Amino acid sequence: MKELILPPYAPVLMESTRALGYTLEAAIADILDNSITAEASRIDIFFEPSDNPYFSILDNGSGMNDLELNNAMRYGSRHPKEVRDSNDLGRFGLGLKTASLSQCRCLTVVSLKKGILSGRRWDLDLISQRQEWVLLELGETDINKIEHINKLIENKTGTLISWTKLDRIIVGEYSLEETFNKKMPIVREHLEMVFHRYLKGEQGLIKLEIFINNNPLQGNDPFLIEKSYQILDDEKVFIDGSEILIKPYILPHMSNLTSTEINKLGGSDGLRNQQGFYIYRNKRLVVWGTWFRLARMEDSSKLARVMVDIPNSLDEQWTLDIRKSIASPPDVVKKSLKRIVDKIALGSKRVWVTRGRRETESSNILLWQRFRNRDGTVQYDINREYPLIENLLESIGESEQKQLINLLRLIEINIPMNALRVDFNNDCKVSMDDEDEKLELIRKMVEQLISISNDPQVVIEKLMKVDPFANYPELLKELLEEVY
Ligand SMILES: Nc1ncnc2c1ncn2[C@@H]1O[C@H](COP(=O)(O)OP(=O)(O)OP(=O)(O)O)[C@@H](O)[C@H]1O
Ligand SMILES: [Mg+2]
Repeated sequence: MKELILPPYAPVLMESTRALGYTLEAAIADILDNSITAEASRIDIFFEPSDNPYFSILDNGSGMNDLELNNAMRYGSRHPKEVRDSNDLGRFGLGLKTASLSQCRCLTVVSLKKGILSGRRWDLDLISQRQEWVLLELGETDINKIEHINKLIENKTGTLISWTKLDRIIVGEYSLEETFNKKMPIVREHLEMVFHRYLKGEQGLIKLEIFINNNPLQGNDPFLIEKSYQILDDEKVFIDGSEILIKPYILPHMSNLTSTEINKLGGSDGLRNQQGFYIYRNKRLVVWGTWFRLARMEDSSKLARVMVDIPNSLDEQWTLDIRKSIASPPDVVKKSLKRIVDKIALGSKRVWVTRGRRETESSNILLWQRFRNRDGTVQYDINREYPLIENLLESIGESEQKQLINLLRLIEINIPMNALRVDFNNDCKVSMDDEDEKLELIRKMVEQLISISNDPQVVIEKLMKVDPFANYPELLKELLEEVY
């Protein structure tokens, strides 16, 4: 058989990869990934909708020398299967080129390492004209013309990316200024969320500062860690020796949040849509607000968010895409995630009842609890930690547990308030006030609890602290004596 060497046509390949589907914010995040991998502690994003509009991203990372920069400009600069450092946010050897040229026709990279400046440029117009992979090498005068080059020199080390010929950013808009006004708040929000753990300087990460036109970004933690509850213990799953760490949280109820916090969490509608798993690849948020079809987006789980930390060594198993915007769990992990989702569905209900300030003061364990919400309204909830309910929940299967919890909620929200109000106003005697019936019921229940217990003494001691049993100490003693 004869071998043919068939390299791609430069202009066709470069134009086609522009359509990988990057949004402006995803493209910028992909460039920032490179800066973070290069251990930058400060990144400046500048944009200028002037006569010569441009977009620049400047970092103070390690920078590249001439050879490294040549390689960085190559499509496929590193093999996707190559083992990467554990803190490397890259995978495909494409992002710098594909992300940049999805937004502009001219990409210039200037890098400063060990006091030496190097500059390279891909210009799609030139490539289309020459039909060749023509990479331009910038001379000193060319480099000095690049916007913000002085800032790179001041940093002493780092990289400056410059996007010009911004054809894609302006598509469908009247003016670049208008586009920037519309798109930059989205970019800001995206970066504040995607890199929030770097912006906070989480343990083990270099604390990162990001500025857009000199305005600092604030990390936006979608878990509000300080206020949320971790409802289940951490769970670790291992694949081929690599660890996946899963931490399930429940956000505080809306009545316990400020309006800024609610907005940051996605607003009241957003809360529901953004429940689900939050997948962090090397601490960088990749995918969020999805249950991966392991559960439905229910109102009842709208405060549930599960942090999943994955390492870059499992990219293939998670089928990470070039834009780092899609990843789905491998089957082994799905099983663990499903188990967690099911547990959350139960656990989260308990948190709903702590939505307001508990107002019922009593040392006994109460069946009904009165809560005062932030907005001044009050509500009555059936205490899910009431021992008889808890015992029952533990003794039945998952599907019955769900039914029981739904039933309790149904009872709570269907208290016949109006009818009760009318009856009380009319001084009607309602049968729930019937002492004889109460006594009879309590007697029956205690007898039943004693009959299924190994230690009636303990049962009675517990009930002495549980409302309404605690109101009948004589009866409880009498029933205990009957046993012995
Ligand atoms: N800001 C930067 N500072 C230092 N080196 C950089 C920077 N940007 C890119 N590089 C180098 O250029 C290479 C190519 O970057 P590119 O984003 O194209 O691919 P990648 O990061 O390796 O993988 P991916 O396609 O997943 O992003 C990087 O691997 C890195 O060595
Ligand atoms: Mg990259």
